[in-house]
Amino acid sequence: MDFTIILLAAGKGTRMKSGTVKVLHPLAGRPMLAYGLDLAFGLGPAQILVVIGYQAERVQEAFSGQASRITWVLQPEQKGTADAVRCAVPFLNKTRGTVLIHYGDVPLLRMDSLTRLLQEHRERKSKLTFLTAVLENPKGYGRIIRDETGRLLRIVEEADARDRERAVREINTGITCVEVPFLLEALKNLEADNAQREYYLTDIAAYGVSQGLRIASVITDDPFRALGINTRKDLAEAEKSIRLEICERWALEGVTVVDPHQTYIDSTVTLEPDTRVEPNSHLRGLTRVGRGCLIETGTVITDSTIGSQVHVKPYSIIQESQVDDRAVVGPMAHLRPGTVLEKEARVGNFVEIKKSRVGERSKAAHLTYLGDSEIGKDVNVGCGTITCNYDGVAKHRTVVEDNAFIGSDTQLVAPVRIGRGSYIGSGSTITRDVPPDSLAVSRSRQKVIEGWTAQKGKRKKT
Ligand code: UD1
Ligand code: CA
Repeated sequence: MDFTIILLAAGKGTRMKSGTVKVLHPLAGRPMLAYGLDLAFGLGPAQILVVIGYQAERVQEAFSGQASRITWVLQPEQKGTADAVRCAVPFLNKTRGTVLIHYGDVPLLRMDSLTRLLQEHRERKSKLTFLTAVLENPKGYGRIIRDETGRLLRIVEEADARDRERAVREINTGITCVEVPFLLEALKNLEADNAQREYYLTDIAAYGVSQGLRIASVITDDPFRALGINTRKDLAEAEKSIRLEICERWALEGVTVVDPHQTYIDSTVTLEPDTRVEPNSHLRGLTRVGRGCLIETGTVITDSTIGSQVHVKPYSIIQESQVDDRAVVGPMAHLRPGTVLEKEARVGNFVEIKKSRVGERSKAAHLTYLGDSEIGKDVNVGCGTITCNYDGVAKHRTVVEDNAFIGSDTQLVAPVRIGRGSYIGSGSTITRDVPPDSLAVSRSRQKVIEGWTAQKGKRKKT
């Protein structure tokens, strides 16, 4: 479409009291600015200019994957929203046409609010149109000041407002449509003559009125979505509502979310029907969960692929792993990056696995560490088995072939290979390869001294 989007994201976000620029604070698993960018990409303008300043490199880095669709504009000093737009002007491809200005700290806004604003702006052949909202509590926002006939006169920022103006509940969302020639003219005529000593973009309203312009506005029917995030309190509020919405969306797609108020699913996660997610579960990043799974309480799954009918028992942690159909994990298991559990594998309590593949139907039911290993099919890994994968310098691999049986309390000192169908006696320290179909035991033989207790008792007495 023939318009340009300018997205403002240069401010530090002083009220966040953070060492991180405001627009990079995560919201349901994604940086705040990602939401504004999504809208921009969705609207498909001719150009997307994103104004950055504070920690500019970090912002660019965070969105390097989308760099080809974005023109980054640097605002060297954060002198206000009008100054930010002024920095973007030289990057405009055209000296005519419409610009839609959007703020990077208003992430909840919906696409239809923007399309409606653009549409009204065009239909009314307006030069300047603001998206406004009527709020119960307008504190902190710029207020829309109108005359008695309802004509928009100006926008007054909270810090500059008089009591009567503060009582106004109609606010500026920050989202503005403006024709380029008028914008250029207005920007030349603004002053930083206000409480914050900043160039306010909102002052283009009063400038327009002074030039005899009639300023249009569209009131959003979704005022909560206009929430501007200035503090961490605002951030928590936005987070809560996004999370609730995500859970409700999945519920309508056939996922049972037992308590949507206490389930934390990132906006990047996907789930399939008949999966049940119990409270206090966290599904993060690029996690995908298949059909008919049961994700029990306290589970944290990050960037992982979970197949169908997988059962994750309480308090398990799964990171960058793959869990295939009908596998069972936990309670209290830890799958670290690079773990693959094949179909129907079972991993029980206090089992930690890293960079390892566990074959179909294999089991490690309790108290085990498997690192850098390859476990075949139908293997039984007994309680307390440990792969000693690290010699202080390098990591080594352990291979356990199909149908092997590892007795409890075994140490597999890598590099080592246990042949197909072999047995390892409990309590063994295995340092050499074991050929297929054999038994390896490496523990000292048991000695028994009969009558020893009585002798000991005698010695004590004398
Ligand atoms: C702004 C509006 C206010 C509106 C509110 C909506 C102005 C003067 N005020 O106030 O009317 O009700 O948003 O949420 O526009 N930014 C820059 N460069 C700067 C300053 C800010 O890029 O020099 C960016 C910020 O990164 C932010 C956005 O502009 O994304 C808004 O700035 P902020 O300081 O949060 O403005 P508000 O005080 O919230
Ligand atoms: Ca703001």
